[in-house]
Amino acid sequence: MSTFEVIPTGRALGAEVIGLDLRRELDEYTVGRLRAAFLDHCVLFFRGQEISQADLVRFTRYFGNPVPHVRPQPDRPIEEIFVISNVTEDGKPIGALGSEGIPFHSDLSYLPEPGTVSLLYALEIPDEGGETMWANGYAAYEALDPDMQTRINGLSAVHRHPIDALNTPEPTTHPVVRTHPETGREVIYVSPHLTYRITGMEREVGQALLDELIAHATHSRFVWKHIWQVGDLVMWDNRCTMHRRTPFDDRQRRVMWRTQVFGAGTV
Ligand code: SIN
Repeated sequence: MSTFEVIPTGRALGAEVIGLDLRRELDEYTVGRLRAAFLDHCVLFFRGQEISQADLVRFTRYFGNPVPHVRPQPDRPIEEIFVISNVTEDGKPIGALGSEGIPFHSDLSYLPEPGTVSLLYALEIPDEGGETMWANGYAAYEALDPDMQTRINGLSAVHRHPIDALNTPEPTTHPVVRTHPETGREVIYVSPHLTYRITGMEREVGQALLDELIAHATHSRFVWKHIWQVGDLVMWDNRCTMHRRTPFDDRQRRVMWRTQVFGAGTV
């Protein structure tokens, strides 16, 4: 049995896990404790890991079934690994997402079955910027006044990706207030990046409500920022969080490996 400590960030969500070497297989008891900590803290991070792509895929399997990312990346030796990077080699990008900032979103919410758990491992990081921030959707929902909770319960919203080719032919909709399938707690599930409009509402009224909810859910009191170090592995629960990335200088290198779990998972 492996022993480890879980140290909360002291902010709205997130905890560091200390004492595990993710190159090694974990026993059932340890995985059970990790899953419980994950559900409690929504984001877990592990510093100082020196893992291979196969290690990352094996670790991801403790939390569900890792699947190849929906955006194709040819020539991947392990197809479940998606490279996030601004680096180009021989004139070709080695990964996706460049060096720009990315607004708050929950992964793949533009799909009918969005991502559940995402994992990101840092191989190279810039001196400054390129930090990732997470917002706690439970805390945001629970802090709403009861009238607003009543107003938004039962509403749904259309989610779509800005790159139209990634969207499904029929608009994808999700509840504005989503119930986490494992914890049973309610979450605000709209984002500035991927939520397009509230359904069944006059456009301007719906947009005003969306803007108000997003401003509330991304307020700094619900957010924690991770300053990356090489060797960090961060995993997050897309069912109760949104995340965003700050921009960085494109002359600097940032290289990350990412895995993704869809559907119900096992957490
Ligand atoms: C993402 O938005 O999924 C990318 C996060 C990051 O590059 O830090």
